[in-house]
Formats: sequence, structure tokens, C-alpha cells
Amino acid sequence: MKKSPRQLNTKPRSILFVCLGNICRSPAAHGVFNHLLQQTKFAGELKVDSAGTAAYHVGNQPDSRMQETALTRGVDLSDLCARAIAKKDFKNFDLILAMDETNYSDLMQICPKEFSHKIVLFLEFAVKSTLKSVPDPYYGGQAGFEKVMDLVFDANRQLLVQINTFS
Ligand code: 4NP
Repeated sequence: MKKSPRQLNTKPRSILFVCLGNICRSPAAHGVFNHLLQQTKFAGELKVDSAGTAAYHVGNQPDSRMQETALTRGVDLSDLCARAIAKKDFKNFDLILAMDETNYSDLMQICPKEFSHKIVLFLEFAVKSTLKSVPDPYYGGQAGFEKVMDLVFDANRQLLVQINTFS
């Protein structure tokens, strides 16, 4: 299934990926985005980070299953560390990408109105899937972690294609 990705109006200088725990989906998106960014001419120009809407796992490395799955695709997540979203993130980041619809509504509830336009569902940038949410792999098996990787590679590739058009 191929669809048209969401179009950016302006070039973001900073991107924040957000899920619930910041140990599976958003660190995967963060690591894959950085991995793809290294292969572009604007590597180093963008600030990239990730956070969770919940604080359960603050200070932890990404889940070992997520790290192992990412490594099979050439992406090392071992230097990432979970943190919780903070009020200042809404001011400091240009684009805030919610991994699922619950993350999106949780972010909208705490975001000052003046910054709410920055919050977007990450999979609006995907072209190979019509899913709105990256399914939470935490309580499932290996297939869920592989699905996360498929989705984050697709959406991030499209995001970088668009960012490249502003350069
Ligand atoms: P994430 O996955 O939001 O993709 O990091 C989860 C991590 C932890 C939990 C749920 C989802 N948890 O319930 O602890």
C-alpha cells in the first residue's frame, strides 16, 4: 500500500520523537533518523532527540529486544537513554513526532496552545503503510519489533526526502 506523505511547510531544525516509555518506538525512530541523517549533506545541522510521555523508564537504555532488532539493520541504539517529555520541549523543538494516537492526544493535553501545531503523528510521513500508530511492541514478540523497524525506516526516509527539498 502506497500513500502520499504529509508535507512539511518549513524546514525543521530540531525534531523530537515521542512514545510512551521512550525505550522501544521513539528511541528506534531517533536512532534510525540519526543513522539516515549521517548519509545526507545536512548531517550535524539538525538537533534530534526522543522522550516518553511516561516516566517509568527514565535513565534506562532502550529495551534489549529493540536494541537487538535495530542492530540487525545496522542501527546502534546503545548510547540512548530514556527521559520524560518536559514542558520546555514544546518551545525548544520545531517538530514533535508522536508514535501513536494516544501519545498524540497526551502531548496535545500538556502542550501550550501556541506550540500545538508542532505535534504530528509520525506515520503521516510513511508511504508504505496506512497505519496511524506505530504498534507498541513491549508486550509482544519479535514480529512487533521488526514491524517498528519497518515503519520507522519508511517514515524517516520520507521525512528526510522532504527536509532535503528545503536545502
Ligand atoms: P514504548 O514501549 O512506548 O515504545 O517505549 C513501551 C515501553 C514500556 C511500557 C509500555 C510501552 N511499559 O508499560 O512499561
